[in-house]
Amino acid sequence: MTGGKYPEMAGKRILLGVTGGIGAYKAAELVRAFVKEGAHVDVAMTRAASRFITPMTLETLSRNPVAMDMFTPASAGTISHIELAQAADIFLVAPATANYLGKAAAGIADDLLTTISLVVRCPIVLAPAMNSKMWSHPAVGVNTDILRSRGVSFVLPEEGELACGQEGPGRLAGLDRIMESVARNLSRGDLQGLGIIVTAGPTREPLDPVRFITNRSTGKMGYAIAEAAARRGARVHLVSGPVELEAPRGAAITRVGTAREMLGEVQKTIDGADWLIMAAAVADFAPAHYSCTKIPKEGKKVLAVEFSPNPDILLEVLPEKGEKLFVGFAAQTGDPVPEGKKKMARKGLDLMVANDVSREGIGFGSDDNEATLLDPSGREEKMPTMPKTLMADRILDRALELWREKRASAGKKDPEE
Ligand code: CTP
Repeated sequence: MTGGKYPEMAGKRILLGVTGGIGAYKAAELVRAFVKEGAHVDVAMTRAASRFITPMTLETLSRNPVAMDMFTPASAGTISHIELAQAADIFLVAPATANYLGKAAAGIADDLLTTISLVVRCPIVLAPAMNSKMWSHPAVGVNTDILRSRGVSFVLPEEGELACGQEGPGRLAGLDRIMESVARNLSRGDLQGLGIIVTAGPTREPLDPVRFITNRSTGKMGYAIAEAAARRGARVHLVSGPVELEAPRGAAITRVGTAREMLGEVQKTIDGADWLIMAAAVADFAPAHYSCTKIPKEGKKVLAVEFSPNPDILLEVLPEKGEKLFVGFAAQTGDPVPEGKKKMARKGLDLMVANDVSREGIGFGSDDNEATLLDPSGREEKMPTMPKTLMADRILDRALELWREKRASAGKKDPEE
């Protein structure tokens, strides 16, 4: 199995252009990261770039010949530069110098990379890097606007100390941001136009100002779904319980503590949503009485705590379901399918992800998961152990299929169809 953080990169042809700036050395890291994701990487570099990083380095890491010269014919068994440009699924230039932006905006083709730039018809992502004075020059701004108006995506430079010793915007964007943009541009955009609420993580039910009851959910599955859905074009609202994860890119996030707060947030936003994906492990009970002061241990042989049931979020919003698609999770100990089916029926779900959380290496806290997808038609799809990032896309694929069926039977069309 490949690295698997960006499933949309596996098997894709990424054409990486490298131009002559100090950030060119980071192309090596990018190539490695793409190869780790299972992508085929072709590199085309300018002569100036080869002064910052050798073609040999990029050739070794990409395991493919590096193209630099217009007039070197393709060797036996390799494809020509024009074919290379036509075959690309995505064209990324990182770093893109001010000179490159100017030529690309003007349509100048005076070397291999600028020629390729006019041939590609796949999505284009540019990651500029240059001195901050150059970056803020109006000519560069105009060139960037021209390229943007032609549909080119930009991963804007970051602030910081530049190689020339000055401070300011101009440093090549971080690897993560570039990878994210490439993944977003590669993805099918098949969730475009959909509003999706994803809940994730545990809830935290306070007993007194310093103590609370919670569960072992870490939020990884829900966060992976939110990130994948945003990458595929959905408007994502992540309602997150307390977790230690970074906010997923591209999703709006609201952090909540208790089950009641989570319910409040879902109720507030459900109206504008098409899908609700309840990946959160909502606490079923909360302490019946909250003590405003810390409960002392003095004089207690036993501490008896009474609990009262929390509202069931899915059941609470069920009356507002209408034509929305509801996805739930059943985290069970033991065979999750029979209980999963019952919960699916009880909570009016269109799709249930049932998993056994008692198994080592899958479920709470781990990076991998194994689950069975259930739907009301009786279909059962067993998903083998796989990274949660990959499973997120599988769940969304199935949800989309069900959504389309639902829309078709209601005689409606999706915006992107
Ligand atoms: N859920 C919810 N509100 C709750 C509890 C659960 O909306 N108060 C949602 C979960 O997010 C999940 C689904 O319901 O998508 C099933 O959750 P689970 O805890 O497995 O089901 P429960 O109905 O709480 O059943 P039990 O805990 O008794 O197994």
